[in-house]
Amino acid sequence: MCYAIPGLVKGFDGKHAIVDYFGEEKKALSELLDLKAGDYVYAQGGFVITRVSAEEAGKTLETWKDLFFELKEIDQKASRLSPWGAARYDHVRGLMERALSGGKLTQAEILGLLNIADPREQEFLLSAANHIRQEHHSNSCCVHGIIEISNMCAEQCHYCGISAWNTKIPRYRLSKEEILSAVQGAVDGHGFKALVLQSGEDAGRSVDELADIIRAIKKRFGVLIFVSFGEVGEEGLEKLYAAGARGVLLRFETSNAELFKKLHPGSTLERRLAEIRKAHELGFLIVTGALVGLPGQTQQDVARDIELAGELNVEMLSLGPFLPHPATPLANIPAPDMADLIQTLAVARFALPAQVKILVTTGLETLSPDARRAGLMAGANSVMLNVTPVDKRPLYDIYPKRAHQDDPLAEQITATIALLESIGRAPTDLSVGAG
Ligand code: 5AD
Repeated sequence: MCYAIPGLVKGFDGKHAIVDYFGEEKKALSELLDLKAGDYVYAQGGFVITRVSAEEAGKTLETWKDLFFELKEIDQKASRLSPWGAARYDHVRGLMERALSGGKLTQAEILGLLNIADPREQEFLLSAANHIRQEHHSNSCCVHGIIEISNMCAEQCHYCGISAWNTKIPRYRLSKEEILSAVQGAVDGHGFKALVLQSGEDAGRSVDELADIIRAIKKRFGVLIFVSFGEVGEEGLEKLYAAGARGVLLRFETSNAELFKKLHPGSTLERRLAEIRKAHELGFLIVTGALVGLPGQTQQDVARDIELAGELNVEMLSLGPFLPHPATPLANIPAPDMADLIQTLAVARFALPAQVKILVTTGLETLSPDARRAGLMAGANSVMLNVTPVDKRPLYDIYPKRAHQDDPLAEQITATIALLESIGRAPTDLSVGAG
């Protein structure tokens, strides 16, 4: 998924291919393939990831042709601004207009939006965020897959259920063959075009081994690979890039340096940020963000989290709730409310640059079965499905009762498509970021 629609290569602008989708042109980096005008391709995250035959492209385009425009229309209607709210909440409307014209919000303005407590003003805020999302990204919604390749972890993050705090949980590490087989199921079986490989900081598998696995994936499958193995260092990042990975998912967790240090013994925010910055410098797409609801975290910190994500050149924001895990030092801290998280996502949509995608995290979905729809209607435009073999998922126990933990992949896909169609979204990656 990210049921990419095939695009037709029209020409080139330097290293970028100019790709046409039903008359709209996007740019995508064609570094890994030898392309020519007239080729059909799938692009993802701004990269051309694979070529498709004209015959396959023709078939897919035929099924998409009408639906593509129908969905856009449903979305457009659903994201119209309420004139009543726009007239009444001048301040929010003003900031929305600034966001729409590419202007920045100050930290005080971000904080002001986070602090809105009047239910009707909140409602307007969410619908304005949805409006901004529609203006910038049309109806595209990324649907990426995540494969949790190992739950081994040497770190002691105070919130995390697969950290070394958890001495009870059985540990696993998928073999290279098991990973390739999961990728095959996702890519060949279900059409995924972008996958995240994630694990704890697993001291038992070197970066060279990880790079070897990525090389094997890239050799066999046309898929965009994001890596999420914690901190691997500059050399590690270079090796993963050379192997063909083009995205890094690494949250900074909190922008408050003191809180970071408290929650991550032996580590610092500075080091984490240096790693994220390095990854961007190397050309990786950056997926980053923070946990919301950490003990000692203030609204000011959350405002800064949003701002910091922007400074880190985030491509996709991953902002999720803290959820207490019984085997960790934070076992007794309550989770935040879903509504607070949705409001935070909406504010992020106001504050971050136009091209940024915003993910509805599995953590947020774990707070409520309605969270995915609510997030997508409040500025978010990305979801991630769990592609880990079903028997291993309960062991990837970062927090309890993860949403969709037991749902087979085919079911997750059916439910996702049905939800997206009901709100007029297309599971494609054709937003500004891809252009
Ligand atoms: N609650 C919510 N998110 C968590 N993570 C780890 N533990 C928890 C928890 N208890 C998140 C971290 C990490 C991501 C892989 O999982 O933010 O970056």
